[in-house]
Amino acid sequence: MIINTELEQKGNQFPNEIKSVRQEVDTLYFTTQNNVILELTVLRDSVIRFRYGTRGILEDDFSYAIDPENHVGYNHLELSENKNFYIVTTAKLIIKIEKISLQSKILDREGNLINEDEIGFHYEESFTLGGNIVKMSKRSHPGEAFYGMGDKPVHLNLRGKRVTNWATDSYAFGKDTDPIYKSVPFYIGLKEKHAYGIFFDNTFKSSFDFCHERLDVTSFWAPGGEMNYYFLYGPGMSEVVQNYTHLTGKPELPPLWTLGFQQCKWSYYPESTVKGIAQKFRDLKIPCDGIYLDIDYMDGFRCFTWNKEYFPDPKRMVKELLDDGFKTIVIIDPGIKIDPEYWVYNEALENDYFCKRADGPDMVGKVWPGECAFPDYTNPEVREWWADLFKELVHDIGVRGVWNDMNEPAVMEVPGKTFPDDVRHDYDGHPCSHRKAHNIYGTQMARATYEGVKRYVYPKRPLVITRSAYSGAQRYTSSWTGDNVATWEHLWIANNQVQRMCLSGMSFTGTDIGGFAEQPTGELFVRWIQLGVFHPFCRVHSSGHHGDQEPWSFDDEVTNITRKFIEMRYTLLPYLYTAFYEYATEGIPMLKPLVYYDQDDVHTHYRTDEFIFGNHILVCPILEPNSKGRRMYLARGRWYDYWNNEVVEGGRELWVDADFDTIPIFVKEGAIIPRYPVQQYVGEKKIEELKLDVYYAEDTIESRVYEDARDGYDYKKGRYSLRNFKLTGKAKDLSIQQFKTGTFETEYEAIKLNLIGLPFRIKKITVDNVAYDLNNLDKEDKILKLPKDFSVVHMIG
Ligand code: GLC
Repeated sequence: MIINTELEQKGNQFPNEIKSVRQEVDTLYFTTQNNVILELTVLRDSVIRFRYGTRGILEDDFSYAIDPENHVGYNHLELSENKNFYIVTTAKLIIKIEKISLQSKILDREGNLINEDEIGFHYEESFTLGGNIVKMSKRSHPGEAFYGMGDKPVHLNLRGKRVTNWATDSYAFGKDTDPIYKSVPFYIGLKEKHAYGIFFDNTFKSSFDFCHERLDVTSFWAPGGEMNYYFLYGPGMSEVVQNYTHLTGKPELPPLWTLGFQQCKWSYYPESTVKGIAQKFRDLKIPCDGIYLDIDYMDGFRCFTWNKEYFPDPKRMVKELLDDGFKTIVIIDPGIKIDPEYWVYNEALENDYFCKRADGPDMVGKVWPGECAFPDYTNPEVREWWADLFKELVHDIGVRGVWNDMNEPAVMEVPGKTFPDDVRHDYDGHPCSHRKAHNIYGTQMARATYEGVKRYVYPKRPLVITRSAYSGAQRYTSSWTGDNVATWEHLWIANNQVQRMCLSGMSFTGTDIGGFAEQPTGELFVRWIQLGVFHPFCRVHSSGHHGDQEPWSFDDEVTNITRKFIEMRYTLLPYLYTAFYEYATEGIPMLKPLVYYDQDDVHTHYRTDEFIFGNHILVCPILEPNSKGRRMYLARGRWYDYWNNEVVEGGRELWVDADFDTIPIFVKEGAIIPRYPVQQYVGEKKIEELKLDVYYAEDTIESRVYEDARDGYDYKKGRYSLRNFKLTGKAKDLSIQQFKTGTFETEYEAIKLNLIGLPFRIKKITVDNVAYDLNNLDKEDKILKLPKDFSVVHMIG
């Protein structure tokens, strides 16, 4: 045990000797002489919850973050003791709780120490506000690396950093600005070859120190609430992230069009401008599926109203846009204009739905409309009311998605840019101050919006986008990274943030492509598009103050390269949708930082630029002006250069040429990549056949293709099509087996194989054991057309 008199003098209190232990099914209660309780729950063999109470009391157990549908269940739970420790053993972990200190050590079943308390839990009484300042410190090891934590614009590996979670409106934030919009108190530690995660489920302003203050200590703390964290074991980072995402929830599948390209600006108005932008996309043949209306569509920035001068007949406009493939998405902010003539304000006022100051008056603050009041979305009745407000927008007018902004919540012209701490919230029947509800406010707004949009867009699927979020928000909403800047540094930040969000359970994220503040050069815009088309959410947005930011706003070369990359995204839609399916069902991040992809290769631990898009495509953006290429690290294994199909050996740094119209892209050998034809919007064309790019490997590799009706909920009743392909390559032999599940009939009848890198000339082919006429091969000996549900195709040289 560590006796820290200095800390003690600073007012810290520590648990002392354990006096009793009690077990209730999956939960153990350890109580110390000085009445500290550790409640330890085994949720799964590799997911353990640690919760501490002082004065012999645990708080009411309530969390917005934990998915009520998360499955718990373990194979083994045993409590034993020796002289110094109580020992909890599960099928995956051994947890030792020291008798004299309540400190814990966590080992895997082979006895490797994965994580251990330094001081462990300690606390200070908060004399001014009540409750405790709760703290935890853990030992950290040389070379241990740290990842996760949501949208932090800092180096991907957090070692050496200290960060804080307090949702903040951060216009034109920069590298290392902290905190910004989101709060995800979850990190992944990678110690030697073992990855584990810690999710500190506390919505107060929490802080994390990753060996910043002391080289060998990682700590986290919050000025209120409980020390309540989940330990999630790997040993793979993939298992840690999946465990975390199971715990905090996965999204439903979005409609496929939301993975298409989206165009936004502050603001497109009046109607003729919106129509003009849409027409220009079609004229220039640049695919686009979504067009956004920012705050100026409203009447005086009043939510749920329209400026009838700019948009005299929104229903007609929305329909006409939709006839041309454009879905309309509108912004909705939390600030409700204080205006006795405004029905939304009056309804909320009459029903007492606004947040209040501690002494009674409504919380009043300035946002776009001037003085506003703010619905308390932590009240379920308010959420229900809010959800119903979407009837007109979504059901009557036909809007398909809603964009929630300013929900940190942002307040203008006040210090702190948000509510004062004393503001009261319902917190679903656990009344509290803003100190506790602040970080969750945006998520509860997005949740209420999601419920409304979903209700009224039914039987189609909703789209919600949010700026602020807390852990678990991914169950309801996609997100974007807020008000970035049109600079090269921000392109690096964009790449870093989306990878980090993917590790933090929130894959459906994108950045304002080109930068929100200031104006990008054509070159920067192109380099950003080249990255952005590989982000799960792909939207151009700008403040509009410095000029236009449409694909044609620069010059023809920019327009052409932009089209080329957006077209690439559209051809890869089945691949991207499959990645979303794996995220939605298994919690697998849609982008994988290199360290996630190959954590045993220490070269990946500090890489930031390269990432894996889906499972098989490695992308490395160009992040500097005037580049003709760049140095990069190619992950271990053999890869095909996407542009020329040359095989490149990974596990090393290399120079890759990348003129203005390309970026380094590599496909893992053995991959089968599905492609659709280019469409101007999702569903424009009937898909006549599914093309599969087959990258030969002398190995056995699996790939999947998920498809369904692209919208609606029939997929939940089994009406989907999941093709599992198993490629087996030998020196003179390549076979592909297909195992299909689901009852959805795709509209195409044929699958076309595009064989890449085959090292032999084909002499014989059989499809489901029947000889295939070699005359059907194309000149380059490459393309085969097969019935879509073939079981096995066998090519022999
Ligand atoms: C905020 C948003 C931005 C939006 C603007 C006007 O700055 O982050 O995306 O365009 O408000 O609504």
